[in-house]
Amino acid sequence: MSTDKRPLIAGNWKMNGTGAALAEISRLRNLVADSGAARADILICPPATLLHRASETASGSAIAVGGQDCHAAASGAHTGDISAQMLTDAGATHVIVGHSERRTDHGETSADVRAKADVALGAGLIPVICVGETEAEREAGSANRVVADQFASSLPDYGDGTEIIIAYEPVWAIGTGKTPTIADIADMHAHIRQLLVERFGEAGAAARILYGGSVKPSNAEEILSVPNVDGALVGGASLKADDFFAIVAAS
Ligand code: 13P
Repeated sequence: MSTDKRPLIAGNWKMNGTGAALAEISRLRNLVADSGAARADILICPPATLLHRASETASGSAIAVGGQDCHAAASGAHTGDISAQMLTDAGATHVIVGHSERRTDHGETSADVRAKADVALGAGLIPVICVGETEAEREAGSANRVVADQFASSLPDYGDGTEIIIAYEPVWAIGTGKTPTIADIADMHAHIRQLLVERFGEAGAAARILYGGSVKPSNAEEILSVPNVDGALVGGASLKADDFFAIVAAS
C-alpha cells in the first residue's frame, strides 16, 4: 500500500445472493484465518435479506458486514425501506450510501445521500459515500468538477470526518471491465484527498478513499499501490471468496 493507513477491502454484493451464498463468507473466513492476520480490514455488504445471517457467519472473525443503502429517516411510513438503526440491529458496522446505481435507479440526489450519511452516523454506522463521474463527464473534461460537486453536497453535516469513507467509483468502470489509467486514478484520489483535507484537516488526511470499478485479482495490486488509494470497493469479484480474498491478499 501507498500509505500507512490500514486498507479496507469492501465487497458490494449488490442484488446477488440467497442463503447459499453465506458459504462464501464461511470460506472467506477460513481463508483469512489460514493466512494469519490479514493486512487489510475486510467488509462484506450483502443484500439486506442476508445481513443478519451474514453477521452471524462472520461473527468473531476479521470480517465486518455492512448495508448497501439506508433510508434518510430514522423510522416511519416508508414501505420497503430500511433504516440505519435496523442495519445496526442486524449486525452492520458500515453502510454504502450514494452508489451510482442508486443515484441512477432511484433518482437519489446528493442531498439525499447527505441525509442518509447523517442518519447512518447518528446510528453508529460508518458511511461509505460513493462519488464518481460518467463517461461523458470524463470525456468532457469535467470529472474533477463533478466529483467535487458530489463531495460538497453528499458529505454529512454531522461529524468531524473521522468516521467516513469515500469511494471513488467512475460510473463507466462499474461492471464493464474498464478501468481508468493508473495516472487518472492517482489524479482523482489526490483531488479527493485535497477536498478531504480542506474540509476536515487532519481527519481528512487520515480518511480512507477507496477505488471501485472493475477491481479484480489481476489488477488489484497495481490499483492498490496508487497513492491515496486506501482500499477497494469490489462488486462482481466480491461474490466468490477466492477472488475476493486474492484482492485482500494483494493489498
Ligand atoms: P464491479 O467491481 O462489478 O465493477 O462493481 C463495482 C461497484 O459498483 C462496487 O460498488
